[in-house]
Amino acid sequence: MTATARAHPNIALVKYWGKSDTGFNLPATGSLSMTLDVFPTTTTVTLAPERDADVFTLDGVVRTGIPATRVTRLLDVVRAAAGSTAAAVVTSHNTVPSAAGLASSASGFAALAAAAAAAYGLDLDERGLSRLARRGSGSAARSVPGGFALWHAGDDEHSVAERIAAPELAMVIGIVDRAEKPVSSREAMNRTALTSPYYPAWVTSTAETLEAACEACRDGDVTRLGRIAETNALRMHAAIQACDPPIRYLTPASVELFDRIARLRADGVEAYGTADAGPNVVAVCRPHDAAAVAAVLADVTEVVVAGVGPGVRLLDDTERIDTERIDTERLDGAEPA
Ligand code: PMV
Repeated sequence: MTATARAHPNIALVKYWGKSDTGFNLPATGSLSMTLDVFPTTTTVTLAPERDADVFTLDGVVRTGIPATRVTRLLDVVRAAAGSTAAAVVTSHNTVPSAAGLASSASGFAALAAAAAAAYGLDLDERGLSRLARRGSGSAARSVPGGFALWHAGDDEHSVAERIAAPELAMVIGIVDRAEKPVSSREAMNRTALTSPYYPAWVTSTAETLEAACEACRDGDVTRLGRIAETNALRMHAAIQACDPPIRYLTPASVELFDRIARLRADGVEAYGTADAGPNVVAVCRPHDAAAVAAVLADVTEVVVAGVGPGVRLLDDTERIDTERIDTERLDGAEPA
């Protein structure tokens, strides 16, 4: 009747940007990500058959409108599979600024999928959970297996993420802006597909890029993987900027971070930039270079260093979180234990 799950956000090295099916949230191309070991989301789902509607609380605030609708839509998928009509109370705690292009929807929907499946009594394996999380938010499919995750394009049954072996990497996250982004990734993705003349080229080039990235992972080739990641991210932003009306997520501070990353490379420290649908820039590097990279980016903005994080998991009773403590730790900027 009640279950709690925790998931971590992921940052794509080869991005997901565009759908082949909006109803099932199927991607136009496959993508590849690294799950982070920072900024987890912890979500509890409790069945509430006495209520006539779901209740969704995020970081201590009851949410209505689009965020609540998205939660209910995912719960509807679970209820249909479980043969239940019971409403649920969903309580979620983010440790990452929500909707700031820091992948809170990935950790959020991965945690919700796992907690909801358990609360409604669905017995899903990792593939099943990844498939379910995908329905909430595409990138959430990759936070289910964790580590380096390859999310396949395909139909509803086959479009799931699986873990692949890859060279050890660190990500230095430059938090340019914690504010909510002005255009959601959902809306921007849709507009890109409908109005950007570069969208078809984005789709064909990304499919090729993904193959090259998987090969670089197999070879343990950080240089190749890093170059691929930076090029792929800038191609995504080019396609987005060519929308009508245009959307520009990168700010002057974001561009300054990309410049500093290029300068680091010129000075012999290998780092590569990437950015999701927001102004924050993430430097991808070898773990032993992370401190040097962080020092250079910290002049411009707040930075957080992340390593490779785990997949989604259910928390047992002894781990059940004192929600007050999570909120306090979040406000202090620390990661909850
Ligand atoms: O999962 P969504 O619908 O929030 O889309 C995520 C899109 C990007 O973060 C920009 C790219 C990606 O692959 O994560």
